[in-house]
Amino acid sequence: MEQQQPHKRRKRYKGTHPRKFSEKYKELNPEKYQDDVKKIIGQGKTPAGMHISIMVQEILDFLQIQPGQVGYDATLGYGGHTRRMLECLHGQGHMYATDVDPIESEKTKKRLAELGFGEDILTIRRMNFSEIDKVADEKFDFVLADLGVSSMQIDNPERGFTFKQDGPLDLRLDPTSGTSAAQRLRELDEDELVGLLVENSDEPYAQCIASEIMRTFARGETIDTTRQLYDAIARALSFLPKSEQKDMVKKSCQRCFQALRIDVNSEFEVLYAFLEKLPTVLKPGGRVAILTFHSGEDRLVKKAFKQGVRDGVYREAARDVVRPSAQECYQNPRAHSTKMRWAIKA
Ligand SMILES: C[S@@+](CC[C@H](N)C(=O)[O-])C[C@H]1O[C@@H](n2cnc3c(N)ncnc32)[C@H](O)[C@@H]1O
Repeated sequence: MEQQQPHKRRKRYKGTHPRKFSEKYKELNPEKYQDDVKKIIGQGKTPAGMHISIMVQEILDFLQIQPGQVGYDATLGYGGHTRRMLECLHGQGHMYATDVDPIESEKTKKRLAELGFGEDILTIRRMNFSEIDKVADEKFDFVLADLGVSSMQIDNPERGFTFKQDGPLDLRLDPTSGTSAAQRLRELDEDELVGLLVENSDEPYAQCIASEIMRTFARGETIDTTRQLYDAIARALSFLPKSEQKDMVKKSCQRCFQALRIDVNSEFEVLYAFLEKLPTVLKPGGRVAILTFHSGEDRLVKKAFKQGVRDGVYREAARDVVRPSAQECYQNPRAHSTKMRWAIKA
């Protein structure tokens, strides 16, 4: 006789608006719940566990990818851009892709392989793009770098990128190496912290925030979670008029989290190394497009491309930044701050 299986109750979907990342199991299973996911994207939101690629058409229009070419996506993420670039190869040629994130890269590799993009056409390496010269033994016809963090990283409170939900104050793209943001805060003195907040994010309340963080430590309290950092910033700005406080705290939190993220991931240093080595890995006529998300990054890219044109390394470079359309920003608010710059190797 067939053994009766104990009835297992399916985990309930908590209402129509689940609040916690871990409760969004429909969004975290986009293959199974395609209609729900489409509906969320239609509402201008990014489903949990997904990333909506930015300026895809503008990138493809510029890169002019041909079958048989060799390309490199420096920032694999969810693999949205990689996939669209691979489709342009029509099965001929090869792409390399890198990411430092061990958690998301594995999922993306599996997802792309299931879509038919296996190792015969795509080599995925867990590497920092600062080592662009070690990614492949051949040179590239096209390169893309879509800097910063993916929506999967931002939305997962375990990674510490968001202050909207509580989680460990980590902020590392690769949590298996380096120093977490919480540890970094403990190591810095007040002046160093002010410098970090000003240099990385132009934080106007850097001094008040740094002083409050130091006072918190002096009281023997910890700042190990995203909520604890949020609370410290809120205390630092409690002198502001009540009507402005909420908005100002939110903006300062955005800037402080960004400044810490830049620091713990050495974002300026690795971008600098990438830009310096980039011309050496491009074929003559090779094309590169870079998406940036804050002024510090854009300044570095602009300067490198301008200097490259002056030195004759690049044949041409974008005079102005290319921005996403108003429609794209409306459909995907995370595209708002994006700037694209491009260059063509001489
Ligand atoms: C904005 S997301 C890329 C999204 C991707 N273009 C897509 O369409 O799904 C940026 C990705 O770059 C990775 N990343 C950031 N800095 C990196 C670095 N220095 N080296 C390698 N990967 C990096 C992050 O871990 C993240 O997954």
